[in-house]
Amino acid sequence: MNTIILGIESSCDDTSAAVVRDGVMLSNVISSQAVHEAFGGVVPELASRAHQQNIIPVVSEALKRAGVKKEELSAIAFTRGPGLMGSLLVGTSFAKGFSSALGIPMIDVNHLQAHVLAHFIKESEDDNHQPDFPFLCLLVSGGNSQIIKVNSYKDMEVIGQTIDDAAGEAFDKCAKVMGLPYPGGPIIDRLAKEGNKDAFHFNKPHIQGYNYSFSGLKTSFLYLLRDRLKEDSNFVEKNKSDLCASLQATIVDILMDKLRKAAKDLKINEVAVAGGVSANSAVRGAFEEHAVRYGWKIHLPKFSFTTDNAAMVAITGYYKYLDNDFCSIDVTPFARVEL
Ligand code: KG4
Repeated sequence: MNTIILGIESSCDDTSAAVVRDGVMLSNVISSQAVHEAFGGVVPELASRAHQQNIIPVVSEALKRAGVKKEELSAIAFTRGPGLMGSLLVGTSFAKGFSSALGIPMIDVNHLQAHVLAHFIKESEDDNHQPDFPFLCLLVSGGNSQIIKVNSYKDMEVIGQTIDDAAGEAFDKCAKVMGLPYPGGPIIDRLAKEGNKDAFHFNKPHIQGYNYSFSGLKTSFLYLLRDRLKEDSNFVEKNKSDLCASLQATIVDILMDKLRKAAKDLKINEVAVAGGVSANSAVRGAFEEHAVRYGWKIHLPKFSFTTDNAAMVAITGYYKYLDNDFCSIDVTPFARVEL
């Protein structure tokens, strides 16, 4: 054995590098970009420039913390997509240069698959929390809301997905309407703790199957604020916690309704959650409630693996390495790619 994979993640605004040896994580370094805060969202050109500055120090630090010399690496796994093209190009180009200098193979990783396989990151030899196949994974982030049936490390079926906005987008856009900074999801989560979730009611979408929709909720939130602000210019200030609690409860209900239906129809009670929104306390609370009420065996990721990180890229790369699934040096990144 002694398979050592360096993982590189640069799909959006986090530059990350991680080292995994035989499936066990040795290091996971993440450098987040503060430069976007002033703009209320990620600015693609600034993101790729920051990746260029960060990538070498982040990789050096990941190797150092792992106690691994670059000559010991077996392969380099990198995020090929989906993501921002300029950001992906930095990670892809770095992986090409480094792997050809070291004479080792490259492994292209689908970012969405990596979020799901974050559940297989082992932090020590005797870490045995991994889900059993098949399981359902709710993948909820700033760009995705999907229900995935995970049959194996490489066989994953999207059985439901958003037809418009992602859950994280609903959090962030509604936060913006309330004048909260970007990303608003974690702020809504915090403010909601002091609020009454039954204070306001928002319509839930009626969509067939396991698909989601969040754009109607966003619009009804916007209209409520517009109407109430006409009567009281301090409406948002006075009701911020209640607005956050009610909005968050509605998003969580929408997510769980479809997930519960999928679990029941497919008779699968092993259920995981992944992606940035899996850090949300109400999402986690709902999973715990479902575990008690419906006998689900649940898998909640560690907070450090909810957002973009290279450990999930390295672990995905590790399983592809075991399958001899490598890519060639002329590989190009994909801004948009299905699971
Ligand atoms: O997976 P991720 O880091 O990357 C992207 O898809 O870009 O997810 C980021 C998303 C953002 O929309 C952010 O607001 C949301 O995850 N998020 C949260 C929480 N923490 C992060 N949403 C709700 N509650 C949270 N605690």
